[in-house]
Formats: sequence, structure tokens, C-alpha cells
Amino acid sequence: MQKLAIQGGAPLRGEVRISGAKNAALPIMCASLLTAETLHLTNLPDLHDVGTMRKLLLQMGVTAEMATGEVTFKGDGVTNWEAPYDMVKTMRAAILVLGPLVARFGDAKVSLPGGCAIGSRPVDLHIKGLQAMGAEIAIEHGYIHAKAKRLKGARIFFDIVSVTGTENLMMAATLADGVTVLENAAREPEVIDLADCLRAMGAQISGDGTDTVTITGVEALHGATHRIMPDRIESGTFLVAAAATGGSVTLRETRADILETVLEKLSEAGAKIKVDGDSIHLEMTGRPKAVNVRTAPHPAFPTDMQAQFMALNCIAEGSSMVVETIFENRFMHVQELRRLGAQIDVEGNTSVVKGVDHLEGATVMATDLRASACLVIAGLVAQGETVIDRIYHLDRGYEHIESKLSQLGANIRRIK
Ligand code: EPZ
Repeated sequence: MQKLAIQGGAPLRGEVRISGAKNAALPIMCASLLTAETLHLTNLPDLHDVGTMRKLLLQMGVTAEMATGEVTFKGDGVTNWEAPYDMVKTMRAAILVLGPLVARFGDAKVSLPGGCAIGSRPVDLHIKGLQAMGAEIAIEHGYIHAKAKRLKGARIFFDIVSVTGTENLMMAATLADGVTVLENAAREPEVIDLADCLRAMGAQISGDGTDTVTITGVEALHGATHRIMPDRIESGTFLVAAAATGGSVTLRETRADILETVLEKLSEAGAKIKVDGDSIHLEMTGRPKAVNVRTAPHPAFPTDMQAQFMALNCIAEGSSMVVETIFENRFMHVQELRRLGAQIDVEGNTSVVKGVDHLEGATVMATDLRASACLVIAGLVAQGETVIDRIYHLDRGYEHIESKLSQLGANIRRIK
């Protein structure tokens, strides 16, 4: 089990390049199942989850030619329409092969993703949507068996906004017979990036980025080249780390228009932010001010930035409320932060954080991807050494995080 050891106290200074977005790359990789031609992806992040998704596609029969930060998929030899439990249990995003498999081959056998640390995370909306499009679905022995001669366009209303639910059904609808309208769809930027890629492949999609997405099915999709958008959560994570350590950091190859609420909250906390094209510069002098945070679907404050902001609030001036409205169990970082001296009370889906003037290094345990990022930020500001265990969570979603942080002056090293 690998660990990270961090000596806190150094303000982050310098420049860091932001990688391609994990949550855009994962659905877009599954789009390779929708065509027999080649799909060439660039700005692909080197993440554990991207490797897992590639392995899953390869065992289905997709071929892949890889180069640094790039992959060329070819979906002409897909013969195995199954996503086995041992792969789905380590990466829930594997559910994103379901829509493309049913749409192109009319047959899919995908393991139900187990629960996960942050919540039960059912996939009932994915299944309901495919049934509305005419798929016959049976759930047997922990697997979703879906069959359809050809999916038909349908009007689908999401009771709850679901990012991968929207993405799965959008992909399925590209090859369905007729028009599909997704109501109460997710508006996340990663949904738009997937739609851009699908349009480049010949799909007819409009309304992505709003709560109503319309897809007109076509007979077949062709190959394309697509550059994965920058990772807004990696961007936000580095900006919060810069603010928490009182540093001065410039992010390169990112975008500010996909991070507006996070940038607003950082300004509220006292950070000075300058945007210049695909760069964002943040300067923080003095102690951050506590800011209230309430997560909700895009364009509201992203749940994937909740834990990171809680770390900032732990050492901020004043008290703050952090409300998590998306997942039912996304406060596991709280007890780890308390080990570092944070003062946090949790009441249901609300945490009240009382800023303390410093944290003390300790050994803590990562429980999920974004909680790990929160503990890294806390370790960067704590006095003394913080050792974070189970950092495999971190490697799922952050490309070479300790080398990027070291470049910014952090005293951080990985220990076997
Ligand atoms: C995506 O997960 C992201 N993952 C998550 O990022 C992110 O936290 C989440 O969206 C919310 O923004 C990827 O894009 C790969 P949801 P997803 O379906 O799609 C309920 C990270 O850290 N729901 O939008 O699985 C669900 O329980 C990860 O990078 C149903 O009830 O999330 C949750 O309460 C963590 N039934 C809410 O909707 C369904 O069929 C939102 O979930 C689907 C979802």
C-alpha cells in the first residue's frame, strides 16, 4: 500500500499544466464502441481509471494504438459485449459501455456497479431510459442483460440529474431510430465535451449543456479525432491548494468558463484571481476567509470540489457551512481532518467548520478520490509531517500529483 508523506508549511508557487479531464475521457473512450472506424483521442490523462477503461474496451475487442497522452481506438472487432464484475467493481464509470453496446450491437451484459464509499449510486435511471427506448432489460446474478433489435427514439425525463445517466443515454440515442429528448439532463461541461466528440463522429445532437438534450438517430457513426477538455476538478484542486498555502500559482492549458462557481468562492475567500486565455493565476496573501458551500448539479458548486473546500475552511478565519446535496455519504474526510486538529460538526448533509489557526500533521487515511485530494491540501498546510495512506484513490483521478505539487515547491514524497 503506497503512502504520501507531506511536510506542511510551504506556500505553492509557480506554474502547473492541467491534464485532460478524467470525467470527459471516460465516457468519450466508450464512444469508440459506437463505430467500426478509428476514434483518435488526444490530451488523454495518464490515470488509473483511464487505464482500467482501456483494458475493459480491449477485452471487448476494441483495438488501441497508444502514444503519450493519446490513443487511437478502432471498434471494428468488438465481439465480447460484456463488462465483467471484477472490472466494474473498481470503476463504476464502466457502466458507460451499456448504452453504446445496446445501440450498436443490440446486446449487452454489464455488471451492476457495487455501491461505493460516497453513496449507493444506483443506475436505475440508466436502465429506465434504455427501457423507454425499447431495450428488454433483465437484472440477473448482479448483471444487467440488455437486448434490443434497434433502439427507438423516446422522450426521457430524469427524476434526478445524472451525469453518466445523461451520457449513457445520449450515446445510445445517436444510433436509435428517431428522435430522443432527454429532459432534466445534466449540464456538466463533460457532457458537452462528449457531445462535441459524438458530433465529430456524425451524431446529430443539440441542447447539450442545457437541461434538454435532443438527439436524432443516424444509421452509423464514422471515425473522428477529439481533444479531451481540461480537467476542471484538477484545476479547482490546485487553486484551492494554492489559496490554502497562501501561495501564487498559475494553471496552464485549463479553462475558466467551466469553473465559475469555484472561482467565485475562491475570490470570496480572499484570493486574487486573474484569467488570461487558457491560464488562471491565483494569488493569496494572508489567511483565507471561511466560505459557505452548497453542492448541486452544474452550473452550481460541484460536489467533486466539496472536500477540497472543506480543507480550506478548516484553516480559514471564521465558521462556514458545507452542504452536500448530491451524495448521501460524502463527508468521510471529516473524521480524518479532525485527526489533523480540524473543528467540524456534522449534522446530516451539513458540516459546520470552525476555522482554526493551524492544523497539526498526523497519519490519515484516504477513503475516496476527492477526500484524498482534501487530505493532501490539509497536509500541505499542517505543521509537521502528514502521512496519507491508501493513496491508490488519488491515482485514479490525479495525474502525477506529487510531481506536479513538488514543482510548485511542496515538500511531498511517495513512500512504498
Ligand atoms: C459523475 O458520477 C462523476 N463521475 C462523479 O465524479 C460526480 O461526483 C458526479 O457525476 C456528480 O457530479 C463521472 O463522471 C465518471 P450522478 P455519476 O449519476 O454520473 C443519483 C469523481 O470524483 N442517481 O450524476 O455516477 C446518484 O445516487 C466522481 O470524479 C440515481 O439515483 O453521478 C447521486 O445521488 C465521483 N440513479 C445523483 O444521482 C441513477 O441512475 C447524481 O449522480 C443515477 C444517479
